[in-house]
Amino acid sequence: MSTEICGLVPYPGGKRRSVADLLNRIGPLPCSMTFVEPFVGGGVVSLNMLARGLASRVRLNDRDPAVAALWTAAIQQPGQLIDRVWNFPGDDRAAVEEVFKARRSGSLRGLDLAFAELIARRRSYRNKAREPWHNRPWRADIAVDRIRTAHKLLRGRVVGDTCTALDALDVIQEQQRGGVRFLFLDPPYVEQGPGVYSHGMTEDGHRRLGDILRATDCPWLLCYDDSGLIREVYAGFDIQCVSVPLYSGPAQRRAELRIQAEPLAAVIGIAA
Ligand SMILES: C[S@@+](CC[C@H](N)C(=O)[O-])C[C@H]1O[C@@H](n2cnc3c(N)ncnc32)[C@H](O)[C@@H]1O
Repeated sequence: MSTEICGLVPYPGGKRRSVADLLNRIGPLPCSMTFVEPFVGGGVVSLNMLARGLASRVRLNDRDPAVAALWTAAIQQPGQLIDRVWNFPGDDRAAVEEVFKARRSGSLRGLDLAFAELIARRRSYRNKAREPWHNRPWRADIAVDRIRTAHKLLRGRVVGDTCTALDALDVIQEQQRGGVRFLFLDPPYVEQGPGVYSHGMTEDGHRRLGDILRATDCPWLLCYDDSGLIREVYAGFDIQCVSVPLYSGPAQRRAELRIQAEPLAAVIGIAA
């Protein structure tokens, strides 16, 4: 039976099925090292790093302001978010569509945006947060349990007590006072990424990420789909191809890349 902690919400491209492999690759970080996730999405890896005691501090970011608002609400206002979940008639088609409409309007902020994002992720066809999906029963208890678990793990351990909505490239280049950082990077994929997220990355963005990682002193681990562009950008780094199970069925798998500058244990050992 899986003992992994689930993400805050179901998320396209979420790493739940490969989190055990990722944690093995990263291993325990020194106390002085912050685990930085600039493309946090559903946040499975950060939550499990904390739950296993492999990291004691995390830095969260996602370019999508709705995703960032949801994480910030789970950190700062879990009680208010939970009250809204309990009071929401999630099986009522009109109520769900109303939330989708408000979310699309772009006028929501703060807790309103966080709540709309949560409903969108939990009531969407294939979780793409586009159209409501009414065939699944609404499970407020599961949504509440995920918020409580995330809050418990994150309380007092998140840089700035917030999730920012910056471009990942700026987060990677941030200077941190009095400590070192480990970068875990799970960007939108080159071939499967376009159209899946509200904020994607262009070929230029993928190339710039490669340039910045070549220049950084921080240890890092990067996930991608197996594409010619990525093999070209990261030529010379340690590139491993792994087979990852898909949600569509245990027999279905796809190839993904795990890329790092050099064996992580050695790099982290030097930083400790
Ligand atoms: C593959 S998903 C991350 C999934 C996550 N690892 C999980 O387990 O749920 C990629 C994320 O990157 C975000 N994103 C896209 N472009 C970005 C950018 N330029 N800067 C920061 N985040 C970005 C998307 O909003 C999306 O949440």
